[in-house]
Amino acid sequence: ETAAQAVKSGTTPPNTFLSYPDLANPKPQSVPFQQPSQLITFSYTPEHVQEFTDSALRYYVDPPPGANLSHGYERWTRKPDERGRIDALLKAISRVKHDPKRGGLPEIGVVSWRGVMTKILTAPYETRDGWELNVMSVNGTLYLEEHLSDDRLNEKNNMTDRQRSQTYHGYAFESYCTSEMPPDKVPMNDPLPGVPPGWRGDVDTNVQWCSVVRTKIGDMRMIIGGEVDCVRGKYTGQTDTFVELKTSLSIRGQRDEANFERKLLKFYFQSFLLGVPEIVVGFRTPAGVVTTVQSFKTIQLPRLVRGKAGAWDPLVCLDWGYKFLTFVKDLIRQATSEKSKEDHSASVWRVKFVPGSGVRVEALGPEGVRDVVNGEDRVGFLPRWYWDEIKG
Ligand code: A3P
Ligand code: MG
Ligand code: MG
Repeated sequence: ETAAQAVKSGTTPPNTFLSYPDLANPKPQSVPFQQPSQLITFSYTPEHVQEFTDSALRYYVDPPPGANLSHGYERWTRKPDERGRIDALLKAISRVKHDPKRGGLPEIGVVSWRGVMTKILTAPYETRDGWELNVMSVNGTLYLEEHLSDDRLNEKNNMTDRQRSQTYHGYAFESYCTSEMPPDKVPMNDPLPGVPPGWRGDVDTNVQWCSVVRTKIGDMRMIIGGEVDCVRGKYTGQTDTFVELKTSLSIRGQRDEANFERKLLKFYFQSFLLGVPEIVVGFRTPAGVVTTVQSFKTIQLPRLVRGKAGAWDPLVCLDWGYKFLTFVKDLIRQATSEKSKEDHSASVWRVKFVPGSGVRVEALGPEGVRDVVNGEDRVGFLPRWYWDEIKG
């Protein structure tokens, strides 16, 4: 049985499993990470149509003291979660490649949304939530997308009331903190009856401003795309004024503090991966009243948590992340090289992460791939237009 057959038949040989880093004994290797540099931006319109403009760019404004994050909650209808496809990111990459003002793009090792990379990098400290990815390897580039099973999708769309209101508080914070106009041009908003001061309208989660950056982990070049909440002062065309907005429960004791420190790991990588230098946290009461607003410098977070109860080490994450990516890449190469006459680049691989255990890779059979394609015009999970572009 060849490795490829073994992987396909599900009798997974040991080399399809990468075990979790031993956190009791971490000796991370230092893996360099290149400062992200922005390639292109795009916006989603209120109809959630992608356009290559900065129409959805927002500017940071200070929220009013005691902002009420429950304002508008009764009116809010949550848009159901959908499976996030990689298409919009590929459109952006294709646009960069075909821009006559640039000299194309170098060979790229990995393409993914920022959320996927954040999940990969923070896995060493994840004790609760597993995840699954769909992976393809085409012309030496790994494409990663999250795989949400039907169960997981249902779960996400059936939030408890508490989760629902928490989620709303996050969006409401964005309403208070962002403006369509630069701060020096923001008019004082006339207090309207029933509208709290500083409220800038109900948040439309369809509207998003996204940045696509290139960076490098170890020797692996990556292109990553993700939403940017707002910019401070002005937009420079690079990532240096980007701001990430977050809400969190006010800290009232040591347990809250440790929980917050643990949460900072996700805030850190989410921002770090796109080169976002600042994170503004609105601390709130359980009922959603903002008590304090604090700005953190992304690069200082690792030092802030060092030695604390909820401490984490970004070097552990980068070391693991690099091992993970090279492991998946090498495994696919080995599993397909034995049948080198055939082109395996349309194959889809499933990577499953189980907290406390590690990751396992398997080849998806035809039914699995059919599920992933879901009746759309795709090769594997890549849209056919993109496939034709890179294979044609
Ligand atoms: P908070 O981050 O303040 O909780 P982001 O912070 O990534 O810009 O996302 C904005 C808001 O979307 C979040 O605000 C939260 O309300 C909601 N959100 C994002 N990811 C979520 C998730 N996995 N589950 C529930 N809500 C989420
Ligand atoms: Mg956001
Ligand atoms: Mg945010």
